[in-house]
Amino acid sequence: MSEKFILSLDQGTTSSRAILFNHDGEIVETAQREFEQFFQKPGWVEHDANEIWTSILACISEVLRKADADPSQIAGIGITNQRETTVVWDKHTGKPIYKAIVWQSRQTEYICRELDEQGYHDTIRDKTGLLIDPYFSGTKVKWILDNVEGAREKAEKGDLLFGTMDTWVVYKLSGGKTHITDYSNAARTLMFNIYDLKWDDELLDILTVPKNMLPEVRQSSEVYANTVDYHFFGHEVPIAGIAGDQQAALFGQACFEEGMVKNTYGTGNFVLMNTGEKPIQSEHGLLTTLGWGVDGKVEYALEGSIFVTGSAIQWLRDGLRIVDDAQQTEQFASKVESTDGVYMVPAFVGLGSPYWDSDARGAVFGLTRGTTKEHFIRATLESLAYQSKDVVDAMIKDSGIDLKTLRVDGGAVRNDFLMQFQSNILGVPVERPVVQETTALGAAYLAGLAVGYWKDKEEIAKQWKNEKTFTNAFDEEKRDALYDGWKKAVASTRTFK
Ligand code: G3P
Repeated sequence: MSEKFILSLDQGTTSSRAILFNHDGEIVETAQREFEQFFQKPGWVEHDANEIWTSILACISEVLRKADADPSQIAGIGITNQRETTVVWDKHTGKPIYKAIVWQSRQTEYICRELDEQGYHDTIRDKTGLLIDPYFSGTKVKWILDNVEGAREKAEKGDLLFGTMDTWVVYKLSGGKTHITDYSNAARTLMFNIYDLKWDDELLDILTVPKNMLPEVRQSSEVYANTVDYHFFGHEVPIAGIAGDQQAALFGQACFEEGMVKNTYGTGNFVLMNTGEKPIQSEHGLLTTLGWGVDGKVEYALEGSIFVTGSAIQWLRDGLRIVDDAQQTEQFASKVESTDGVYMVPAFVGLGSPYWDSDARGAVFGLTRGTTKEHFIRATLESLAYQSKDVVDAMIKDSGIDLKTLRVDGGAVRNDFLMQFQSNILGVPVERPVVQETTALGAAYLAGLAVGYWKDKEEIAKQWKNEKTFTNAFDEEKRDALYDGWKKAVASTRTFK
């Protein structure tokens, strides 16, 4: 009998990917397609949902071809996705009525201001675990209904459907038959009550979104539908797992126990702590979110969402053009002993957790005549670690749980300088796993559990392997002095308006 695999589809912010995993949780083959980013107006970010769908199809056929695998060898499909990004489409034609509005997009800032002025902060916070911010889907749906001609009438008649990218991909793969999402994605919409696990009528009224356009909310690991054969080379493959990318990464890092924390270094950084069956309301600028629903049980997480980290490194490359590629930052940063007091605060789109300040903008502090390119690059890399510490400190305060180790994943974790500095500034070990594609792996695990490819979470936890541990080399005095400077820099950024 030929070997079976799990196919993971990772629909991210800048590209879609398909990754084939084997039973040991190892990568067999990958395929990737970038798609266009639309910036119609300053602060707006949009995608073409149809282009995203064709990018997914292209990745599926490429990964199967590269692996020389037959679709009949796919035991199940797991889907993970950029969260919050919102698409609305016509129920009858399956055509989007507007571009997908991306999580980063700020075009609903005016709606958020109004909601805030109307005094909805506490209601939203208490039901969703989130804040009023353009980041989440709810105000994006309202924006589409308010701004696309005829959309509101159609929605009220039940002719439109809403979805995040998981919902869209399942809808397309199932030939338009299945309109669903999972708990982890629903929890990011501003419309879902994370305590009673239902779409919330009061929130829908506040946001003026008709309930009939919302997907059915399902567990993160169960068979939802089969692919229609014409999209899968004559095969009906079970779609069996869904999770938003950050929750999928928490699952892929096998952070199954209360208090375990992962940090993903992507365009932004997302730090998540598993808080078990207990949701923790943050008093320190974090979000309360659903981790996943598996085996009839939901687990919660505390999340710190940092908007600009990897994109600050991209800015060194594409904006300032002081490095040719991201890898070079490690060599430059290592050429100097310290930043010599230089701090870089990359608040390019404001600040997310734990500050939530949309008006803050980026700044560099502590420049002297002796500052060099090396100091500047080092300060930029260090800003990723400082921002992560801001969030981790808030997490410790909110949960009362001390951090034992930090599991890391994402592109920038290959940068040894950064990982070492992260450990130094946190004062705890940083663990980098062998498989760093933990987002896709998490979605594969969720699907594999549903179809019996893996037995249980214990089997999965055993597959997690450490590649390298970075251990703290700072004494407390040094750490405090450096972090104090960072806090002053952030505070100054926020007062300069
Ligand atoms: O909440 C946004 C997050 O899900 C985006 O992740 O990796 O696509 O930038 P990524």
